[in-house]
Amino acid sequence: MDNQEYFFHIMDTRKTIRKYEDFIPPIEDIKRIINSARLATSAINAQNWKFIAIYNKDVKQKMAQGVLDTYEKILSNLSDDELKQNVERYKGHSTFFQNAPVVIACIMTKAPSFLDGVLESSGFECAKIKLMRPDSQLLSMGGAVENMSLAAHALGLGSCWMVAPIIAQDIFREILQLDKDDKIVSLLTIGKPCVSDNRAVKKPLEDVMTVIE
Ligand SMILES: Cc1cc2nc3c(=O)[nH]c(=O)nc-3n(C[C@H](O)[C@H](O)[C@H](O)COP(=O)(O)O)c2cc1C
Repeated sequence: MDNQEYFFHIMDTRKTIRKYEDFIPPIEDIKRIINSARLATSAINAQNWKFIAIYNKDVKQKMAQGVLDTYEKILSNLSDDELKQNVERYKGHSTFFQNAPVVIACIMTKAPSFLDGVLESSGFECAKIKLMRPDSQLLSMGGAVENMSLAAHALGLGSCWMVAPIIAQDIFREILQLDKDDKIVSLLTIGKPCVSDNRAVKKPLEDVMTVIE
């Protein structure tokens, strides 16, 4: 397989992995994965990111407990039983990261936005600015996380990109001692794939692509 074919093979075969073998990925692999995030594209090349690779079981467990505690608070404010049951089911999808051999906390750092200030000064309303200015910093983070999940797959490792646990943002910030302006936007679990889930069904290309000639 030449380089080009291999690249598309990696993209075509990547899938979310939520269960991992009892194997600790070496730090060299984790460095290569995070290096692929470092090289990702970012708006105005701000590189507005930091990554913390968490191997430590206690730290992962404390973070998962933080998610559960946050769910308890949320549940205590809900009265609809069906909604409560659905939230209960969702908990597992938010806490299984504690069983992943490595969890990468993906942190968005503050980056300047030239155009936001310009639009504000020229009198555009906040709601209008939101429409005109998709969140470039967050989009840049997305590119970095996707690079990491592809790099992990190329190294024979599986990953799951997770946003649900971020409901415990405040608790995570304390555990990981983040700076004031830093925000965790995703966790990325990494490990050797165990049970291989079926691949999620993808929409056909015709449904998502339009050509204007
Ligand atoms: C932004 C984002 C957030 C996600 N958050 C979660 C999550 O919190 N928990 C989870 O189990 N999976 C999460 N996923 C994984 C998706 O469920 C998964 O990518 C999707 O079902 C498509 O499957 P595939 O990655 O195998 O193509 C997330 C994926 C993305 C891109």
